[in-house]
Amino acid sequence: MTSDNNSNLTRRRYLEASGAAGAVIAMAGCMGGGGDGDSTDDGEESSGSGEQELEIVHWWTAGGEADALEALIDGFEEEYPDVTVNNNAAPGGAGSALDTEIQSRVLNNDPPSTFQIWPGKALDTYTESEVLEDIGDSVWDEEMRDAYLDGVKQLSQPAGDFVAVPLNIHRLNNLFYNASVLEDAGVDPAAIDSPSALLDAMETIDSETDATPMAHQTQAPWSTIQLWESVLIGVGGVDVYQDVLAGNVSDNEDAVRESLQLVADYSEYFNDDAGSVAWDEANNGVIQGEAAFLHQGDWAAGQYQAADGFEYDSDWSYVPFPGTDGVYHVVTDSFVMPTSNPSPEATEKWLSYCGSVDGQERFNPVKGSIPPRTDVPNDEFGPFLTTQREDFDNSDAQPPSIAHGTGVTPEVKSNVEGVFSSFNGSWNVDSAYNGLTNAF
Ligand code: GAL
Repeated sequence: MTSDNNSNLTRRRYLEASGAAGAVIAMAGCMGGGGDGDSTDDGEESSGSGEQELEIVHWWTAGGEADALEALIDGFEEEYPDVTVNNNAAPGGAGSALDTEIQSRVLNNDPPSTFQIWPGKALDTYTESEVLEDIGDSVWDEEMRDAYLDGVKQLSQPAGDFVAVPLNIHRLNNLFYNASVLEDAGVDPAAIDSPSALLDAMETIDSETDATPMAHQTQAPWSTIQLWESVLIGVGGVDVYQDVLAGNVSDNEDAVRESLQLVADYSEYFNDDAGSVAWDEANNGVIQGEAAFLHQGDWAAGQYQAADGFEYDSDWSYVPFPGTDGVYHVVTDSFVMPTSNPSPEATEKWLSYCGSVDGQERFNPVKGSIPPRTDVPNDEFGPFLTTQREDFDNSDAQPPSIAHGTGVTPEVKSNVEGVFSSFNGSWNVDSAYNGLTNAF
């Protein structure tokens, strides 16, 4: 990292971004460090040779996500038998529990070897505080640079240096469905051509079947934020969405209000226990034939794959979220190397492996995502993901997500979460709209 001649300021900003300083200090040491290297105060490491323990902090415990990480770790251990993996999960969809834990550990010079984070703007807090290693030479060699999609490569270097290794690309604007439920209701998903037509389809499902029209979770705000993101693109198009992302909410008042109103109308058709379940528990309703639709990133397809006897095409399928054809709304995950790293050599090996063909070929088909390397063969990707790959290649736009941190700074994301925590349940469009005008 570069030298820091303003460290108190960046440290203070970091504390502010992570919430109350007291809370951060109180959490220090909650999660054990797993390192065997010698830390020094300035964050530089002297690493021992021989065996190292690699502590990986992530939130992949739901649906097929744990299987995907396991597949990645298995491949890594085959290639690097000298490294022992400490698989340390901080469960909670969309990282809802990970951030505070990681920030307190990084601040207290007790970081894990690596942790999961969205590349792009989500990295801002860390790059501003200069707590991520520049891995431009050690990990991002020529071979990797040549193989990656340019856009993803850019997300890995938000402040100039390469600091992250993305390993997947998820699509957010999917509408998954249980095929039998839609058939029983006489609803043709291919004919749903707008967010308001989806509302009509849900009304039909409600009157024609006993199923819940839309499986959803409102326990944490992220699923409703991402639903609103898709509806906003469906209502206003990508330009409006990007303009909102850039902070121009009131310039797009009609589209923002209309999209919020549609989400409020959809909420009439959510499962009754939406406020107390996690996203994958809600999705179980689709798998069991108790719910019709699910709006989620295609990590939901990873869960379908992991379910017994629930087959793509015959039992479940999907359409791009109504009104967003041609858009590939991107969510991507990466791993980083914090400074004061307890296992620098093992961490570099892990990051290189995440950036390899083998790693991405093992991980993505199970996760329900496509690889950011352009040279990963198609063979392991089933029919659903093969279609997603084609859709990605043919897409007109690949905007980043708000709920999944790549498109907005952590501060904006946290403001938007505040707005949607209240919106979840109140469904008050006026106050959500006013909240959003201040959030960006
Ligand atoms: C996203 C993440 C995905 C998936 C999802 C649900 O933020 O990028 O990989 O884990 O949350 O937790």
